[in-house]
Amino acid sequence: QDKKKWSGRFNEPVSELVERYTASVGFDYKLAEYDIQGSLAHAHMLAAAGIISGSDLADIERGLEQIRDEIHNHQFDWQVAREDVHLNIEHRLTALVGDAGKRLHTARSRNDQVATDIRLYLRAASDEIISLIRALQQALLELAEQHADTIMPGFTHLQVAQPVTFGHHLLAYFEMLQRDAQRLQDGRKRINQLPLGAAALAGTSYPIDREAVARELEFDGICRNSLDAVSDRDFAIEFCACAALIMMHLSRLSEELILWMSPSFGFIELADRFCTGSSIMPQKKNPDVPELVRGKTGRINGHLVALLTLMKSQPLAYNKDNQEDKEPLFDTVDTLKDTLRIYADMMTGVKVNQTTMRQAALRGYATATDLADYLVRKGMPFRDAHEIVAKVVRAAEDKQCDLSALSLPELKQFSAVIEADVFAILTLEGSVQSRNHSGGTAPAQVRQAIERARSSITE
Ligand code: ARG
Repeated sequence: QDKKKWSGRFNEPVSELVERYTASVGFDYKLAEYDIQGSLAHAHMLAAAGIISGSDLADIERGLEQIRDEIHNHQFDWQVAREDVHLNIEHRLTALVGDAGKRLHTARSRNDQVATDIRLYLRAASDEIISLIRALQQALLELAEQHADTIMPGFTHLQVAQPVTFGHHLLAYFEMLQRDAQRLQDGRKRINQLPLGAAALAGTSYPIDREAVARELEFDGICRNSLDAVSDRDFAIEFCACAALIMMHLSRLSEELILWMSPSFGFIELADRFCTGSSIMPQKKNPDVPELVRGKTGRINGHLVALLTLMKSQPLAYNKDNQEDKEPLFDTVDTLKDTLRIYADMMTGVKVNQTTMRQAALRGYATATDLADYLVRKGMPFRDAHEIVAKVVRAAEDKQCDLSALSLPELKQFSAVIEADVFAILTLEGSVQSRNHSGGTAPAQVRQAIERARSSITE
């Protein structure tokens, strides 16, 4: 067993269990590329400031490049005994280039090092996730365009409420995702601040140039307070909150897809590759993918709560508790990326059963509000109109027919102001077309909204 880098003042080695318990290399190896980037920028700054020599810098660069290759080619010998990604890399660097490797950690601590690595990791993750959101938004827009005129029942309380166009319904999810992308973009500003230079907690006595490191690593600025820089993980919690909101939105859409493809609704079909069968019931085609999205939303929420709880009782500055931030964070990123990828593909393959959707809207007296509005236009106060239409609905229910199937004499029994022009508004098409203002469900509005949406995600 090789000596721990920090073992100078210890009388006995840690037990094997403690070693395993305290090690993080089993998961934080994922930060290796960012750790190398951070180390290179730090070394460049140390050399420029005259803290290490030019030949030390050359050795460090050569060593880190080789380590990068070894990791890339799966030849790197990760050791639990070397605790974490940082010490594994430093150990190998020293084996490769000797004293120069030992000088790399001058004016640095693993505390500012790991905070930097996570920020670089989350910055890349945010950018990737934003572009995955864009791809899903594209898929939604394509489907919405095909269904700008397709009528479905809009629901409140899961009861048929008013007819809407399917395109309009899909655009609601576009809007949610739009805010999700904005939130990530905004959080990125707070992620993109450089901790390096904070060292363990108090800063360092070497003449460092933090701005230069920030520039090389393309950070927007430096963390202003060394204690804060090494200890807070609020940027990671914020990222997890953004992730939880995205998953919550996709979980709602999943719930709808599941309902819509159940035989009782029969509104849509998902491509076979997103479903599985039952091992006992031959007729089944189960919506596994949306169900798993709904299920995985629970675990993403869990990660958010885990990080909040991890942080809430930590005194300043760094505590080892923070090592526990990584697994929830990594799993959040991986789950979210997979979910967004699968969703974009899945939405492209949604087949819509327009007839069934239309029938469902007809069955629910979805144009009752339109009839009330019609009476109001004829001069009746809205509350009276509401009461009259409720009676009309009851009559249609007794006859088991749609409102538009009642005859004019039948309708006139409820109010003398009703004329033959009522039938234009009792149809589903008339109803959606009349909601022709920005934000409304009329097909013309949906088409305009799609145009606007397209330019908002490509600009
Ligand atoms: N593996 C540690 C983490 O993830 C790195 C920082 C360790 N710092 C320390 N003082 N033990 O947070």
